[in-house]
Amino acid sequence: MKYASLISVLALGLAAAPPPAREGGGYNREQAKSEYMRPATVPFPENNKYTRARAELGKTLFFDPRLSATGQISCASCHRPQFAWSDSAPTSVGAPGMPLKRRSPTILNMAWADSLFWDGRAATLEEQALGPIQADVEMNMPLEKAIQLISAIPGYKPLFDRAYPNEPIAGETVGKAIATFERTVVSGIAPFDEWVMGDDSAINESAMRGFDLFNTKALCGKCHSGWNFTDNSFHDLGFDTDDRGRGKLLPQIEAAQFAFKTSTLRNIAQRAPYFHDGSVRSLEEVIVHYDKGPWRNRPSLAEEMRKLDLTPREKRDLVEFMKTLTGADEPISLPVLPN
Ligand code: HEC
Ligand code: HEC
Repeated sequence: MKYASLISVLALGLAAAPPPAREGGGYNREQAKSEYMRPATVPFPENNKYTRARAELGKTLFFDPRLSATGQISCASCHRPQFAWSDSAPTSVGAPGMPLKRRSPTILNMAWADSLFWDGRAATLEEQALGPIQADVEMNMPLEKAIQLISAIPGYKPLFDRAYPNEPIAGETVGKAIATFERTVVSGIAPFDEWVMGDDSAINESAMRGFDLFNTKALCGKCHSGWNFTDNSFHDLGFDTDDRGRGKLLPQIEAAQFAFKTSTLRNIAQRAPYFHDGSVRSLEEVIVHYDKGPWRNRPSLAEEMRKLDLTPREKRDLVEFMKTLTGADEPISLPVLPN
């Protein structure tokens, strides 16, 4: 079963058909815009459907630092609402003195993710949620102890009863509740969306040119495709690193080496620094990386990593475009932690 799901993730991840070529004379702005339409509804799995009680319980757990060994770290310590659900550090510090190797990614729009983590090693949010509670570098709390602790807080009992009647307080229900909350964390309507929906004054001319470049000369749309700006696949962008990313799971697949999951670009202006190692400080510098590297030349290097010869104005246009992807997301109200 593990093997089968790995294969399907692999098939999805690496053999997915590339988006239709939009380079050169065939490019049509209106056609391109139509490929970035927001979906009307949030997908929830059959075995963990949305209810308000589930989302509320999940949110409470997400913000509860009592689930960590020190009593001070919650999921929200690294996935902070005010930094578009990431944090502002290149790599986060979890349990005391234990810096993480990779940057905290945003949890925005996880409902649409095909796999989780920079290397795609978790298949579902339900499964993923139990990882950080137990990881020594993160919350460092054995699952059994975390469950005992939650069970010992009387105020949690009615929350679980309402969310998952007839199911015990256990790893499974904790994972399902957190996953439900995470699926409700969706990036809000951005100026770009208003433009796509027909408001020609929603973004400026520079951003419109940036959008055209994004889908043609700059090649960005080949990987950052669709409304969430990700193909849910993995690519080696040529960073100088010994972290093999997806290659750790698939040592025999050349293209998986040093490959990381394509990030969403939603609310991207709020989430510096960038990339899996947090090594790039600004959107301007991101463009420099794609424009001319330096890239480590190795067999896994994505074919799109080649000199783009962008002019200074084109670079500005691309940055201006990315800034239109930030929604006016409603500020989140913090949950009242039960006693
Ligand atoms: C100490 C910081 C820290 C804490 C605490 C933490 N995370 Fe994370 N989170 C990370 C990092 C770093 C990654 C990326 C790790 C990797 O890809 O190897 C990550 C990845 C994720 C992802 C995958 C995102 C994606 O793009 O695939 C989700 C979902 C997530 N965390 C949810 C949670 C939940 C739920 C909790 C609490 C139970 C939590 N995190 C606690 C740092 C943290
Ligand atoms: C070959 C596929 C590919 C192409 C082409 C591509 N990207 Fe990316 N992009 C990725 C992947 C994969 C990541 C995450 C890589 C990592 O962190 O190591 C990423 C990350 C980013 C990030 C950082 C996101 C974050 O949360 O840290 C930005 C910004 C970005 N890309 C913008 C662009 C722009 C602008 C272009 C075009 C100039 C572009 N990308 C072209 C695949 C691609």
